[in-house]
Amino acid sequence: MPQHMCDNGEVSTAIDSLPPPPRLAPQLVRTPAELHAALVGRIAAQHSSTVGLVPTMGYLHGGHAQLMRRARAENALLVVSIFVNPLQFGPGEDYASYPRDLEADMVLCRQEGVDIVFAPSVEAMYPRGFASRVTVAGVSDTLDGLARPGHFMGVATVVLKLFNLVQPTCAYFGEKDWQQLSVLRRMVADLSVPVKVVGVPTVRVAEGAAAGLALSSRNSYLSEAQRIRAAVLSRTLRAVQRAYAQGETTIARLLEAGQAVLASESELQLDYLSIVDEFMQPINQLDPAQITPDTPRLLIAARLFGVRLIDNMPLVPAPQVVHDSQTT
Ligand code: PAJ
Repeated sequence: MPQHMCDNGEVSTAIDSLPPPPRLAPQLVRTPAELHAALVGRIAAQHSSTVGLVPTMGYLHGGHAQLMRRARAENALLVVSIFVNPLQFGPGEDYASYPRDLEADMVLCRQEGVDIVFAPSVEAMYPRGFASRVTVAGVSDTLDGLARPGHFMGVATVVLKLFNLVQPTCAYFGEKDWQQLSVLRRMVADLSVPVKVVGVPTVRVAEGAAAGLALSSRNSYLSEAQRIRAAVLSRTLRAVQRAYAQGETTIARLLEAGQAVLASESELQLDYLSIVDEFMQPINQLDPAQITPDTPRLLIAARLFGVRLIDNMPLVPAPQVVHDSQTT
């Protein structure tokens, strides 16, 4: 029986050494009422109450699997939601064409030991008359918030609703969507939502010509050749990281290091390349002495072959150089 660490705030460091998760087929539920019945039954049967939630829009890949593994290791019960949320798509965005494949998603959920898959219809989530919206000001208003008006309102609304339906102990989100993670952390803190939000590092293509590309359901819109070219986003971020680690702290020069890499890709239309603080506000000046682990963060959004891709990385200061004279 794995040790469940979600409830006491400790981070699991022994995921790989845990026994393999059970491989029973997850229970598929389609409505809030079915979800409630499944949760009540399972919690009573397990005599345990830690519930991990991984909210997704489906078309699951290795990034989602990583969230599930972390949640599986830290909770008695694992719930995955699959819902392409119309509220977070703007007019002219890809809501209708967003990739969907519930059958394949169920196979991955089974492999990852998911207990319950909640895959509601739009009507089940937003019945006639649904009128409430959750707005998280400030942190939602820059970067993707500017490019996609209303997007984070849609995300916050659906996630708060999922939290209320599942009542998880911990909920797992990817750092890949850094601004989304920041918005949800803000919402949970501001509204005293009794859920621990866990951020999971971005999973990237590990090898080959597209190495470094962040996994995303939207990568399915790209051919293999286009994915290789899309890896320019992560190369750009790494170039800025390198410049920073080598001692460059002027924002304009750091961003120039990134622009130089971007210039090599003629098909790319940059939306933003920005260094922001924990409130998602662009930073004008860097002071390495004041840096905390979460700030500053470098974020990029760009359109490539008609597909909008995002990525981000932390700016990590250069290690302190210890001179010989100081060590003797
Ligand atoms: P979706 O894009 O399906 O992503 C679901 C979760 O998987 C998010 O927390 C996202 O950050 C994480 N994720 C995606 N790609 C990842 C990668 N390469 N590495 C690590 N984590 C990754 O994000 C959403 O859905 C929706 O906005 C949602 C939160 C479900 C609300 O509708």
